[in-house]
Amino acid sequence: MSAKKRSLSGIKPTGQPHWGNYFGMILPAIELAQSHEAFYFIADYHALTTVRDPETLRHDTYEILAALIACGLDPATCVLWRQSDVPEVCELTWLLSCVTGFGLIERAHAFKAVRDKGVEPNMGLVGYPLLMAADILLYDSDVVPVGKDQVQHLEMTRDMAGYVNRQFFKTETTADEGRGLKQPDAFVRAETAVVPGLDGQKMSKSYGNAIPMFMSKKKLRKRIMQIVTDSTPLEEPKDPDTCNVFALYKLFTDEAQQAELAAKYRAGGFGYGHAKLALFDVAEAYFGPRRERFNALMADTAALDAILLDGATRARAVARGVIGRVRAATGLPASPVAS
Ligand code: ADP
Ligand code: TRP
Repeated sequence: MSAKKRSLSGIKPTGQPHWGNYFGMILPAIELAQSHEAFYFIADYHALTTVRDPETLRHDTYEILAALIACGLDPATCVLWRQSDVPEVCELTWLLSCVTGFGLIERAHAFKAVRDKGVEPNMGLVGYPLLMAADILLYDSDVVPVGKDQVQHLEMTRDMAGYVNRQFFKTETTADEGRGLKQPDAFVRAETAVVPGLDGQKMSKSYGNAIPMFMSKKKLRKRIMQIVTDSTPLEEPKDPDTCNVFALYKLFTDEAQQAELAAKYRAGGFGYGHAKLALFDVAEAYFGPRRERFNALMADTAALDAILLDGATRARAVARGVIGRVRAATGLPASPVAS
């Protein structure tokens, strides 16, 4: 067995990946892949809480996989797979649901947000944190790179591992010490925990304020021009620290570049249109080459299928070991008799 710790994360195939996904999750996942065993998957079961069109789900699944590879995750060294190719995750979800009180689920932000809107949540949405915990615990994960909005789910995951360990394994120890399920840590990059969108709110597909990672050059320029700013006239000095354009510029640049742009803001005679062009230049220089690789990958879905098959095979081998351990602790047969 590898001595490396394991980094694991998932991303839902529910539309084009955006800058928030990239800086909040994909980039930390790539960084962790340098020193960790990297396990990253496309959360298609989770997407089914909302997606209702099969062609869209298939297409968006390819998009996420292509995005991860285009940004630098190497399928030869990382395990990249589609969540539903390892159905043992549903089994672990059920076992977790048998030890988890409804009170914990009711406190989940995502569940509360839906209920507060007066919408009746489907059971998939109610059980979302259980499936997410199963995703993580099924692979003995050590660290989970995510944006800040997912931290509560990680805390719930640790709680659920504790319930399983106490109730089935009769132990307070975790898989680190050779028993039960491992309790993972969230990894949140402070600088990019919450990436703002066009309107300054958290960037999100569901708020309509996102900047997709692989927009064409022309559309990217147009989208950047839509970033909301205040109405300080061009000639007056401006405060970079309250400006949304500047916050996004920081994602792509080093301190010297940031100091240079900040000085222009403060000097006056420099408009938000100029700042937006500066942002466009650095963003296009950054994502342009990744977009090229992304488009090439999307043109060969047979190659993407082969990567998914290889990833699922490797992921499932780990999952089978963990689910067998849990089944045995519950009194279920270690594996179904006919498998
Ligand atoms: P969305 O909110 O657009 O639907 P997802 O829920 O699919 O995004 O998020 C996938 C990953 O990207 C998660 O780890 C999440 O925390 C991260 N993420 C999404 N939006 C942001 C953001 N604006 N800032 C930081 N991280 C983000
Ligand atoms: N819930 C995450 C999101 O909305 C996606 C996800 C599903 C995930 N399973 C996971 C993230 C396991 C980390 C680990 O973004």
